[in-house]
Amino acid sequence: MKSLTNQADKTQAPKHVAIIMDGNGRWAKAHNLPRIEGHRQGTEAVKRTLKLAQDHGIPFITLYAFSVENWNRPKDEVDALMDLLDKFLADQLKELIKREIRLRVIGRFEELPAHIQERLQKTEQATAHFTKYTLGLALNYGSRTEIIDALRAVTKASKSGDLNIDNFDYNDLRRYLQTGDMPDPDLIIRTSGESRLSNFLLLQSAYAEIHITSVLWPDFGEAEFKIAIKDYVERERRYGKTSCQLHNT
Ligand code: IPE
Ligand code: IPE
Ligand code: MG
Repeated sequence: MKSLTNQADKTQAPKHVAIIMDGNGRWAKAHNLPRIEGHRQGTEAVKRTLKLAQDHGIPFITLYAFSVENWNRPKDEVDALMDLLDKFLADQLKELIKREIRLRVIGRFEELPAHIQERLQKTEQATAHFTKYTLGLALNYGSRTEIIDALRAVTKASKSGDLNIDNFDYNDLRRYLQTGDMPDPDLIIRTSGESRLSNFLLLQSAYAEIHITSVLWPDFGEAEFKIAIKDYVERERRYGKTSCQLHNT
């Protein structure tokens, strides 16, 4: 296993890294290529990153691949993205099994094209028994729709008497979010220099550290990954306390 920093300390490493993979279109433009080429190169960056996360012993990695808002893109781009996803999953099934990585899809699953649902289900089922590494794939994902879906489920459970709302707290709510069986992200990385969350894991990232890099997603690789992890390791996570409290000074 590779060390994360010079003062390698595994306990400091993030358990869950979530990435807003942005900049495929700009990468393509800069290379005088159609946008879809940027997305194709983006899938290579996904494969690299998955390997990097595992090599560095990070148990959870969640990748924002398609937002609920991305349906508003031109139809040919959406279709091409779905085709790429289909090919990626077909290619990667063996690889995920070989490397013992569990796939967990988050997002409104039932609104995805039927053949993609089938492919995802097959991959999730084939990898469901792996416990050490998880790849979260955010597809047709948006925090607001996720929260609304969770509220509906909470209301239903409360009405039927399965849930007592009086002592309800965030840990209870978490169970109704799609990331319920994953820890909240410690580190959010966004590529392409944009400083926004774009409807990604809004509740779950309440205390995440955020690392923004100007590198475009298709160019993301080991050097950038290490910079992001080093940045994270050097942060002080205070959760509302003072620095003196944390250091007993
Ligand atoms: C990210 O790259 C991929 C998706 C959102 C699906 P973009 O396609 O958003 O790239 P830019 O922002 O246009 O450069
Ligand atoms: C966010 O990127 C969604 C994904 C990375 C899948 P966008 O490129 O869609 O975000 P905005 O529109 O610039 O906020
Ligand atoms: Mg973008």
